Amino acid sequence: MSHQAAAKANSAARSAEGDPATRRLIVALTGASGVVYGIRALELLRELGGIESHLVISAAALRTIAEETDDDPVRIRALADVVHDHRDIGASIASGSFRTMGMLVAPCSVRTLSGIAHAASDDLIIRAADVCLKERRRVVLLFRETPLHAGHIALMERATTSGAVVMPPVPAFYGRPRTIDDIVVQTIGRALDLFDIDLPQTVRWRETRRN
Ligand SMILES: Cc1cc2nc3c(=O)[nH]c(=O)nc-3n(C[C@H](O)[C@H](O)[C@H](O)COP(=O)(O)O)c2cc1C
Repeated sequence: MSHQAAAKANSAARSAEGDPATRRLIVALTGASGVVYGIRALELLRELGGIESHLVISAAALRTIAEETDDDPVRIRALADVVHDHRDIGASIASGSFRTMGMLVAPCSVRTLSGIAHAASDDLIIRAADVCLKERRRVVLLFRETPLHAGHIALMERATTSGAVVMPPVPAFYGRPRTIDDIVVQTIGRALDLFDIDLPQTVRWRETRRN
């Protein structure tokens, strides 16, 4: 088949299936405290259905999984549709031609924020985020550190200027959360709102809770 014929057949197959660009989301877990945010994001996306999740876990996130949870990385990886090694800078998500809705980094460490702010694409998480930004796709960073020095604030400004949304996982209390999971799920719901993904669990001001 000629290159043109193959491209046409490929395009026809894609339209028949629906546009994959609207259905893929990259989720990265990095070594900041709060790895449960990324884990719950994967669980909630799976529960919701219809989104192809692409997961990347940094080496430091494996450490925080061990320190902060009783979870097993094998179970966490199984929540995603596609898992990429953080060292694989040749993965599909390292290219802009592989279309996605964008990327959620949950949680996002200072190191990864710095890499994204400086486009220092030496691992797949930073490369994939840089690709999303250059393609003008949504990148949401659940940046977690406290307190902050001026350098952290400068990094947040720099990442924001490149198009990222810096969203520290700061809880809201108007939904009267009763458990840590209520707080985590609400934050993930608000982060997914930024991709136009509507979780039924998200508490919305002046709206009736749906579950
Ligand atoms: C238990 C634990 C908690 C950590 N919490 C944070 C944190 O909240 N924010 C942060 O930026 N780094 C935190 N770190 C340090 C990062 O894991 C470290 O800087 C690492 O190099 C980040 O790499 P990554 O961005 O590739 O995941 C923590 C490390 C450990 C072991």
